[in-house]
Amino acid sequence: MCKSNFLKSREISYKHYPTIEDLDKGDRDLVATAFQYAQSAYAPYSSFHVGAVLRLGNGQLIKGVNQENASYPAGLCAERVALFSAGAQYPDNPIEVLAVCADNPNKKLTQPVFPCGFCIQVMLEFEYRQKSPIRILIGNPDTAIVEFESASLLMPFSFDPEQL
Ligand code: THU
Repeated sequence: MCKSNFLKSREISYKHYPTIEDLDKGDRDLVATAFQYAQSAYAPYSSFHVGAVLRLGNGQLIKGVNQENASYPAGLCAERVALFSAGAQYPDNPIEVLAVCADNPNKKLTQPVFPCGFCIQVMLEFEYRQKSPIRILIGNPDTAIVEFESASLLMPFSFDPEQL
């Protein structure tokens, strides 16, 4: 029996900028800052350096870089370092935008590196908490850059805190 009647689909809209020069000045600066931050990642085990920068409603920038550990799972991604730092220091200031860059000295990155599922789930909790979307910019100064109007577009079937 053909079950195609049960088929559903969702469409995700995002912007694709072929180069960093296609961004407006503010976003260009954010991507450049995230890439600069990535250079100070603590990643002696993977050598995979990730930098994240958040801009809050008050204009404050919050830095995050991945923090690895000899006990591997104890480490944390750059995005969550930045998000939890913002949550601790500026709990009442909404996050407007998050830019993420990665740098791998062993392999030239030619595509934007997407955040992991845990980090996206944490972004969603911040959107839920602040009741407004966080714009996401992903990509390096020398790759294409993609922009999502909300973190929820990165994980359309996320766990919903309203179910608890
Ligand atoms: N990493 C991040 O910082 N962000 C991500 O979204 C994915 C991965 C880090 C974790 C680890 O230190 C290294 O990249 C390799 O997985």
